[in-house]
Amino acid sequence: MVLESTLYEPPRPRPLSPVLALIRAAARGDGDLLSLLPAEAYRMAIGPLGYSRRSIVIVNAPELVRTILYDTKDIFPKNDLMVDALEPLVGNSIFVSSGPEWRRQRAMIDPAFSMMRVNRAFAPMVAAVDDCEAKLDAEEGRFSLDLLMSHLTADVICRTVFSTSLATQTAHDVFEAFTVFERSVAQVEYRRLIMDPAFKPVAQKPEVLAACEKIRGHLGDLVDTHLAEGHSFDDIATAVIAARDSFDQKAFTRKELLDQLGVLFLAGHETSASALTWVFFLIATQPEVVRRIRAEVDEVVGEGEVEFEHTRRMPYIMNVFRETLRLYPPITFLPRVALEDTMLGERRIKRGAMLMVAPWILHRHDLYWRNPHGFDPDRFLPERKEELTPGAYLPFGIGPRVCVGAAFAQTEAALIVARLIRRYDFHLEEAEKVRPAARLTTRPTKQIMCRVTRAR
Ligand code: HEM
Repeated sequence: MVLESTLYEPPRPRPLSPVLALIRAAARGDGDLLSLLPAEAYRMAIGPLGYSRRSIVIVNAPELVRTILYDTKDIFPKNDLMVDALEPLVGNSIFVSSGPEWRRQRAMIDPAFSMMRVNRAFAPMVAAVDDCEAKLDAEEGRFSLDLLMSHLTADVICRTVFSTSLATQTAHDVFEAFTVFERSVAQVEYRRLIMDPAFKPVAQKPEVLAACEKIRGHLGDLVDTHLAEGHSFDDIATAVIAARDSFDQKAFTRKELLDQLGVLFLAGHETSASALTWVFFLIATQPEVVRRIRAEVDEVVGEGEVEFEHTRRMPYIMNVFRETLRLYPPITFLPRVALEDTMLGERRIKRGAMLMVAPWILHRHDLYWRNPHGFDPDRFLPERKEELTPGAYLPFGIGPRVCVGAAFAQTEAALIVARLIRRYDFHLEEAEKVRPAARLTTRPTKQIMCRVTRAR
């Protein structure tokens, strides 16, 4: 076990008073929501963000977090700002819909992510990692770690959802348009968060709408290929196309398919790219962690190929992944909106208030974690279980809206970490200057440049 005094504390925004935090965020002007958070946010059970036209309430008490995320009365749907921002891309699909409509969609999508389905997605995941290794073997210079991970996880999604690789023009165009969407849509949310009253609709920027149209056009082509007679695929799109509503046996319409598959592309590659960027950033400067990962891969896999069942038997890699998701949760905030006046514990909540359940804050809360900012994968060992506060760790969310792709993401991460760490040493440039920011997901403010050398 690592001495607690020697734990590595990776970068985070300095905790400031509410006013200074607001000035910092405004001065940076880069749409980073993390720099808005005041120091108090990491200590309180529930309280206001402190500045904003609409009421924004940060909720940290686990029992109140549960009340919001389980939402048994259907009064805390996804926040209107987020729903509006995503609507042009994903319509009213599973990530943003609510109430009975969401329940119908969730029941239809769930089977596409069963463990059996994830097992069948493993071979295309391996093919994506093979291509990534071939690229890295040929790479002699420096490259962006974030871009490498975005390409790799987008390739995994293209292959597992659509049976096509990112190397095709269509998939590549979709990837480029997603990058435009991610960059521009985040800026919109940031200003609206502070300035706008609740439920105010805002027009999207033309470049965001153009990117969405392009993505949906390409998704339409991919869906049509799947719908065409004479073609048979064994992929996630096929499972979603085959899904039927248990009440009336209806399938998703073509428009609904574009919405659902768009969200799977977005939620499935942005989040994993964020997680893996931080995993490799954290590992690269920690030789002891690299040593333990390689020892585990040698023991479980030996010299051969990493198989699906190996990914279930690498607890140290899984704890590194868990700890990375704690320190840098890809989905930084899980915002909801109150549809009616209500009480949360002792606190009166007005209709239109934004309820900010934030994995980023909960995972670093002073009351719930020993050394909240230290990188300590062993904190998830079974023998240290009593240190964990129930309800304070939710990188995949909790309750009925928990991530459908969690098993998929864990399998993908175990495979990628085992393969790439076994084969390469990662050398980062200016690691000390890296700073996290929350936009669509938790990302470094600037690209992390790195090189690899062969470890074996
Ligand atoms: C490390 C990777 C991932 C993380 C950390 C993550 C995290 C999350 C979180 C926190 C939520 C709940 C959001 C909320 O309650 O507001 C969520 C929902 C969702 N995730 Fe993931 N996710 C990951 C990977 C994936 C993958 C690989 C897929 C699919 C291929 C996926 C598909 C979805 C979908 C469709 C939802 C919406 C579920 C619903 O509302 O019913 N995610 N994810």
